[in-house]
Amino acid sequence: MAALFDSFKVGGLELKNRIIMAPLTRSRANDADGVPADFTAEYYSQRASAGLIITEATNVSEMAKGYVRTPGIYDQEQIDGWKKIVAAVHAEGGKIFLQIFHTGRIALPDFLPGGQQPVAPSAVKAAGQNYTDSAGMKDFVVPRELTKDEIKATVQDFAAAARNGIEAGFDGIEIHGANGYLIQQFLSTNVNERSDEYGGTIENRARFLFEVVSAVTEAIGNERTGLRLSPGGEFNDIKEDDAEELYDYVVRKLNEYNLAYLHIGTFDQTRNWHPVLRPIVKSLYFAGVGFDKASGEKLMAADGADAIVYGKWFLANPDLPERFRTDARLNTPDEATFYTPGEAGYTDYPFLEKADAA
Ligand SMILES: Cc1cc2nc3c(=O)[nH]c(=O)nc-3n(C[C@H](O)[C@H](O)[C@H](O)COP(=O)(O)O)c2cc1C
Repeated sequence: MAALFDSFKVGGLELKNRIIMAPLTRSRANDADGVPADFTAEYYSQRASAGLIITEATNVSEMAKGYVRTPGIYDQEQIDGWKKIVAAVHAEGGKIFLQIFHTGRIALPDFLPGGQQPVAPSAVKAAGQNYTDSAGMKDFVVPRELTKDEIKATVQDFAAAARNGIEAGFDGIEIHGANGYLIQQFLSTNVNERSDEYGGTIENRARFLFEVVSAVTEAIGNERTGLRLSPGGEFNDIKEDDAEELYDYVVRKLNEYNLAYLHIGTFDQTRNWHPVLRPIVKSLYFAGVGFDKASGEKLMAADGADAIVYGKWFLANPDLPERFRTDARLNTPDEATFYTPGEAGYTDYPFLEKADAA
């Protein structure tokens, strides 16, 4: 059985431990052009002792943007911005994957070119609200149903984003298929009301996901492609009435793609999916959501995962592996600064002082 501090190989990469930094949206990019901030290089390089960093979700196109101040990876300026960040992480000996996404119906017209309606599998509005800098909280809107041509173009946006990520120097790409964004909107039973080959049966609802996975793996190679899923997750008003059968189908079919890893993490989960999925996943299995050192070690010791993904603890503790190694105390995450602009609550979480080590 592997332990948190054992090195391992992911695709062609040698990772120094199995403590993975979760993808965390931090809303520090330049809102107008989606270029990541220069100080983001410091934030990620501070966390380079992770076995692997997975970046914040990054927009594959202008239509993908669903949150204020989120970065993109669809034009040269953005690629150049990310290059500096990747170089800073590599200079500290870290490895870093770029998480790419499309938010679908979770976008507001405020974020989209020309104030357009967001797009989705079907014209089904999400319950709830989203934050804008200009007018605070706003209700989600009814999205426009994607045409088949637009679906094909969106698949190509994911492939282009993946290629751009590799051009920026990333060690690989994580496709975001979780948390109620476009891919999970297709997988769901409540946002997908389509009657064409993208809706209805499980096979049809999973078609968009597999077209994205095929296009990305063809663009950059399966060994550089990871995928996050959140089985049964209801975040962003998602329902999957047949989650058990759906993810059994999806995960078995993913086995044919020989991905670098599958990252499973449902952060509003009402059941524990790891014991359900781990036995049928043939790729490396990264387990996320709600772990601390003890519960991560326990799952690893039971062969319940190949690595553990840490969100809030990594956000607040740039040197999390060292703190775990020494059983040191942990900084507390400050929710008030999760998504605020600037460096407060971002690059200023203190490193362990030698005296603090147990
Ligand atoms: C501030 C914040 C931003 C997040 N942004 C993303 C994201 O961009 N992509 C993603 O897949 N998950 C995102 N998540 C979910 C985390 O990856 C992770 O699943 C969650 O924090 C639960 O893990 P934890 O208990 O270790 O914190 C976010 C969570 C937080 C707290």
